[in-house]
Amino acid sequence: MTMSLAERSNSIAPSATLAMASAARKLKGEGVAVLDFALGEPDFPTPENIQEAAIRAMKAGHTHYTPPAGMPELKAALAKLYTEQHGLPTRPDQVVVSNGAKQSLHNALMALCGPGDEVIIPAPYWVSYADLVKLTGATPIIVETGEADGFKLSPEKFLQFATRRTKLLMINSPSNPTGVVYSRAELEALADVVLTTDAGVLSDEIYEQLCYGDATPTCFATLRPGLADRTITVSGVSKTYAMTGWRIGWSVAPASVSKFMGDIQSQETSNPCSISQWAALEAITGPQDSVKRMHSEFIARREYVLGRIASLPGVTCVPPGGAFYAFMNISSYFGRTLGGRVISDSTDFCLTALSHAHVALVMGSAFGAEGYARLSFATDLETLRKGFDALEEFLKG
Ligand SMILES: Cc1ncc(COP(=O)(O)O)c(C=O)c1O
Repeated sequence: MTMSLAERSNSIAPSATLAMASAARKLKGEGVAVLDFALGEPDFPTPENIQEAAIRAMKAGHTHYTPPAGMPELKAALAKLYTEQHGLPTRPDQVVVSNGAKQSLHNALMALCGPGDEVIIPAPYWVSYADLVKLTGATPIIVETGEADGFKLSPEKFLQFATRRTKLLMINSPSNPTGVVYSRAELEALADVVLTTDAGVLSDEIYEQLCYGDATPTCFATLRPGLADRTITVSGVSKTYAMTGWRIGWSVAPASVSKFMGDIQSQETSNPCSISQWAALEAITGPQDSVKRMHSEFIARREYVLGRIASLPGVTCVPPGGAFYAFMNISSYFGRTLGGRVISDSTDFCLTALSHAHVALVMGSAFGAEGYARLSFATDLETLRKGFDALEEFLKG
């Protein structure tokens, strides 16, 4: 007998970034030196003080269940952080600590959305957004943005797609995959139109501490009176503190919504790892010099990457204001032959770049934007140099 799958299993796609990473891993397993720019995780080790805090937590016996929505010490520290540094008055009962920001997004969508609801997602979007929405039975409404509008959703476009059924607008600034950072004024203009509707906002601010040049992060919920009552802010330690494997993210939401998010999490996964929570507490309350060091390194890599892209024939890129991705427009290669293969879309481009040049990128189609390839510069400069040398050769055809 074969087991029949639930309807939902057929509608969910595996994460394309992870799929690309596993293709790269397979090649590596065959002994090929793959230049890997596919994964969205800092290459730095987790800072020493954070590792030490985890060891101390284990030795002190913090190896048991914590309250499902997170331990009181961490929730209190996050409430203080949002109140004092983000300007968002927050009580601990508004905070839910999760197994990564991804689970925070899932909790929020599960608490608020269901069949018949619509969630507006500006494209290009992070690979998981549309699938996380589909898991709830709601419908993702993908709204395209392009290079011409700086990959930003305008208030007019939001209104064009908003309906009675719009439950949430998802925004992500700085953005994965484009690196785009909305200005405060742009977010205020969006906030003003959102407030004319019944929609809420799910603001994914996970790259908030990785901004470059003039770009600055904005905590969306603080922008207008009343906005915090309909906004769920999501962030975490993965990107800022090079802690992807520790799986700690969080949400800040109105207390009534947080209660349901916590209840959902209590049934699905219980608390996030107790040891990781102590590590996250050290991350956000301990010395921040390692964050500065990693940030300076990202600045240097970004400069290098933009310089190299500028000299790649037929490739353009909106300079990322944040995060650690360059979203390269490679559409001028469609219809041309690279590595002995006619390139017809971004998947062709990325698969051929992997098999032929051993460079791993992620196809734009995974982010709802055909014609692009995402390069992660969370990789050392030497690997980046080799990668661009190989790409340059590859693009000669
Ligand atoms: C935009 C965005 N949101 C959320 C996440 C999830 O992060 P976490 O490791 O905290 O689950 C990522 C990770 O790639 C991301 O790029």
